[in-house]
Amino acid sequence: MTPAEMVRTGSLVLVNQSHPLAQEPAVASLLPPDSRRPNILLDARAGTVLSRFLSDLGCAGEIVPVSGYRSRAEQEAIFSRSLRDSGEAFTRAYVALPGCSEHQTGLAIDLGEHRPDLDFIRPQFPDTGVFRTFRRRASEYGFILRYPEDKTNITGIQFEPWHFRYVGWPHARLMEREGLVLEEYIRLLEDYPESGPHLRFQEQGRSFELYTVPRADLECLPDRLPRNTLCQWSGNNGNGVVVTVWRDVL
Ligand code: DAL
Ligand code: ZN
Repeated sequence: MTPAEMVRTGSLVLVNQSHPLAQEPAVASLLPPDSRRPNILLDARAGTVLSRFLSDLGCAGEIVPVSGYRSRAEQEAIFSRSLRDSGEAFTRAYVALPGCSEHQTGLAIDLGEHRPDLDFIRPQFPDTGVFRTFRRRASEYGFILRYPEDKTNITGIQFEPWHFRYVGWPHARLMEREGLVLEEYIRLLEDYPESGPHLRFQEQGRSFELYTVPRADLECLPDRLPRNTLCQWSGNNGNGVVVTVWRDVL
């Protein structure tokens, strides 16, 4: 993989108005998290984890997928329909510009309460019962609430209690613990270079080290990763790649 491809690949890619999607996922890499809704697709890992999460909660059927992966053409259609039906202010608040929606990554999912009047743009996701439990436990499964109420000035999107984003472990845990949205998290990790010191933290008895490698230094990165332990990397869709070292996992 070239450095440019590395930067635009992985579960931490930041997609927003100032970071347009750089690479559409391969359709073969997507799957439906809920077999009753075979047309709603997600990145295979995110979809598998979501399906497991819903089944662990015993609430598949009550919390339903409403919108997952969208092609650019689908985002364009949603954007134009919303402009026509609900006007510009509403659309800019709740619908990302085509090319700038993280639904296009396959890593974002809108979930809602199963009801006949389910709203496609703003599905009902109450702060009660199993919905609250889902929200509270999402980070255990690598999902984050992507557009919280108190971060609209950073995300540029209004509060969306229905929109969850898969970032994976341990990122969702650290983001939740520190109260960071993805824009803030990526910026924070940029302060931890490969040459050190790295961001070190513990979660559920495991030790992690995180650092960012800028695009110019990505040549031969796999050869420089620590041996004998689990290492993952993800592009940030900006200026580099985040490396995650699972220190005590062999
Ligand atoms: N509703 C989110 C912001 C999207 O359209 O991607
Ligand atoms: Zn959404």
